[in-house]
This record gives sequence, C-alpha cells and structure tokens, in this order.
Amino acid sequence: MPTYYLWNIGCQMNKSESERLGGYLEAEGYRLVETPRGADLVLMNTCVVRGSAEERVVGELGYLAGLKKRSPRMSIVVTGCFVESKPGALKERFPHVDLWFPAGKYEEFTSWMKAKTLHWSSADPLLTAAANGPTAFVPVIQGCDYFCTYCIVPYRRGREHSRPVDEVVCEVEGLSRRGIKEITLLGQNINSYGHDLPGRPDLADLLAELNDVPGLVRIRFLTSHPRDVDGRFIDAMARLGKVCECISLPAQSGDDRVLQAMRRGYTIAQYRDLVQELRQHVPGIAISTDIIVGFPGETEAEFQHTVDLVRDLRFDTVHIAAYSPRPGTIASRTLPDTTPIEEKKRRVGIIEQLQESIASEISLGLQGRRIEVLVERKTKGKWEGRTRTDKLVFFSDNADHTGELVDVEITSTSPWSLQATLLSRSEKALAT
Ligand code: SAH
Ligand code: SF4
Ligand code: F3S
Repeated sequence: MPTYYLWNIGCQMNKSESERLGGYLEAEGYRLVETPRGADLVLMNTCVVRGSAEERVVGELGYLAGLKKRSPRMSIVVTGCFVESKPGALKERFPHVDLWFPAGKYEEFTSWMKAKTLHWSSADPLLTAAANGPTAFVPVIQGCDYFCTYCIVPYRRGREHSRPVDEVVCEVEGLSRRGIKEITLLGQNINSYGHDLPGRPDLADLLAELNDVPGLVRIRFLTSHPRDVDGRFIDAMARLGKVCECISLPAQSGDDRVLQAMRRGYTIAQYRDLVQELRQHVPGIAISTDIIVGFPGETEAEFQHTVDLVRDLRFDTVHIAAYSPRPGTIASRTLPDTTPIEEKKRRVGIIEQLQESIASEISLGLQGRRIEVLVERKTKGKWEGRTRTDKLVFFSDNADHTGELVDVEITSTSPWSLQATLLSRSEKALAT
C-alpha cells in the first residue's frame, strides 16, 4: 500500500482542504504515515499570511529536499497560499517539488495523480469532508474580493466564488447521514456568500436551508467581515435554532485612521454599533475578533484606541498578530514598516494580558451554570466538547459520549477552558 504524509499549517480553510485531500488519497488506496521519511507522497498545504508562516514553509521544503536526495522516488506536492498563480519562479527555486497547485484547484492534483497511477477513479471524494468526530468543515465561498492593504490572501486565493446552495445542502445532508452533528461553513468573507450566484441567494438564505437538514444540530460559520453583516443576516441568526450564537468578526484595529489605511471599509463607531446590534438581537452571542498591532505608522495613541476597543467590547476571544509586511500587498509597496519588532511584541503583550483577564472573567461568569455541550473526543482521559458559544469544556465519565449532545454543570474555569460534571443527555439530543 502506498503511503502519504500530510503537512498542514494555516487557517480552517486549509485544514478543511487538507481533510478533503486526505480523504481522496485514502480512497485512492494511500495510507497516512506520521513522518515524511519513507513516504511515497508528501503533500504540503501551506500558509503565507505572515512572514513567520512563510519561513516555516521554506524550512520544511529545505528539509524535504534533503530527504528526497536519499529517497528519490518520493513525490512532493505543494498547495495552499505559498503557491502563486504562475509558479514558474517557485519551480526554479525548489526543483525537487513534483507538483505545485493553487489552493482549491483540486483538478490539477487529481489529473496529476491519474497520470501518475495510470488509472481512472470513478468517485470524486474531494467533494466531501472527512468524518472524524461529529463536526465537519464545509467551504462555501472561496477567495476574497477585498484588498485590505496588509493582506496577501486575495493574491493567492483569487476572487470570490460561491458554491451553489443546492450543492452545499446536498453535501451537508450527506454529512448528517454519516453522523455529523455540527458543521462550520467556511469562507474568507462568509457574509458575501452568494452574490456571484444566479438569483443572488445570501448567507441568510443558505442558513435557512441548512437549518432544515434532519439530524444536524449546530451550524457555525467563519469569517464575517463587519462591512457585510446586515440586518437580514442578524435576523436569520436570531431566528434559526441550529445557528450557534457565535461570530468571528475581525476588527483589525480600534483606530479610524489605521482602519482607513488598512482599507477595511468601516469606522470604529460603525463596528461598535454592529457589536451592539448583534448582542441585542442574539442574546448570549460570543464574539471573537482579530487584531493587528504595529501596522505601518501606528502611533502609541492609535494603539491605545485598539486597547480601548478590546477593553470596552469584552470579546470572548481575540487573535492578536504583529504586522508583517507581505510581498505584493498595497501596504508593503507603499508604507514603510515603521514599528520595531520589540515594540510590536510589547503591544501584542499588552492586549494579550488585557484579554486574558477579560476571558477569565467571562469564564468565571459561567461557573455553576448548566450548559449544552457537543462531545467531540476523549483527550487525556477526559471528554472534550464545545458549547454553542464555542467554549471548550472538559468532563470525566466512563461511558462513551463521542458525538453526543449532553448537559453539563460548570465546576471550575480558566480563561481558555471550562471543567464540568455530566448531568444528562440533552433534551434536544433525545428529540432528534
Ligand atoms: N478573511 C479574514 C482573515 C484572513 S487572514 C478576515 O477578513 O478577517 C487572518 C488574520 O490574519 C487576519 O484577520 C489578520 O488579523 C491577520 N493578518 C493578515 N495579514 C496580516 C499581516 N500582513 N500581518 C499580520 N497579520 C495579518
Ligand atoms: Fe484579507 Fe481583508 Fe480579504 Fe480578509 S477581507 S482575506 S483580511 S483582504
Ligand atoms: Fe494562510 Fe492562506 Fe489561510 S495565507 S490564513 S492559509 S487563506
């Protein structure tokens, strides 16, 4: 049996694509191995969102070059955002790579595989998510039509392209039949779903259709651009029982001048209003955000506006990054990277510390509460699952609870997770 090794970094979109590629290879008779040493095929799914990610990719490619010298029969395939639309320069720089294919361009990979193995496979397993555990990712819109000045994603993933509603519903029905209880719809800009489809269905329409899929109990979605979150969508979130009270709404900065230089298309007043509207219409909603510190020219006062935003809005989760100039982006071409790395680290540290105390207070507020958890797996002897608001919960019990919806009582808390005792299977689980 031929073997494959999968190397993956980056966002959930990459994780999802890797799962699909893995599923395809398994269907082709390949077996997953834990190390690239001796593998017949090494598949790398790459990220370049920051310089540090790109350095990891280049490091792994260097390591693989050495391995391939010793086992020349190994094939190396690279996908993800490291791959440029015209990979000519990459081919020259890394001649040991057998195939480069841009993120999501599966056909380029499958036709290469077919040519290699000289046989035609009948099924197209790439279209389905891997089912390990009760949750699955479902990409619904690829690419991005915004050009935030710091961001390389649109250059590597191209323009927006939505999958038809019927195709998504059909896939989710199939997943549900296989026992999947929770899906996460994926898109760089999920709220612009559908604008390129005939009849212009939107995310609210898609959520309404998916809410009717039997057996499915939870629907999540990632990532929401504040500019595209509208009343119709908020209404759908509030109304549809399976749609979780949870949103990822990157602010990027708390300062209007910086937001404008980033070309985010909203002001901080608009962002704050949006958060208020979401909290008003979707009670208990968990809101996470992304922040970049040290954007070119960000002054101490501008950074303090971001600190104010984080302090005032009390997000459930904050992903903080130090600005990293990316080749080809508008910011890297026009704005010098002025903030020294030590200063960026200091700013990251300030927000991390602030957020840790906020997250710890939010967790503490759940102490003693009865909450519904979808159990995903057992880790280190404890059952691990998530609440509808995406909080990580652990509890002990001897029975097998994989894939079950259970009610637990929170017994102790930390900023990033909750410990609980099992009460019962949830009533909703018994009803479905
Ligand atoms: N589509 C999503 C996020 C894509 S990239 C959105 O619009 O929010 C994921 C996160 O990486 C971004 O939210 C941003 O905070 C961070 N990021 C992107 N480019 C970056 C850069 N050049 N330097 C530092 N962080 C960056
Ligand atoms: Fe990048 Fe902005 Fe598009 Fe998000 S919306 S992927 S940050 S360009
Ligand atoms: Fe990275 Fe590409 Fe995702 S750059 S964050 S893998 S869209």
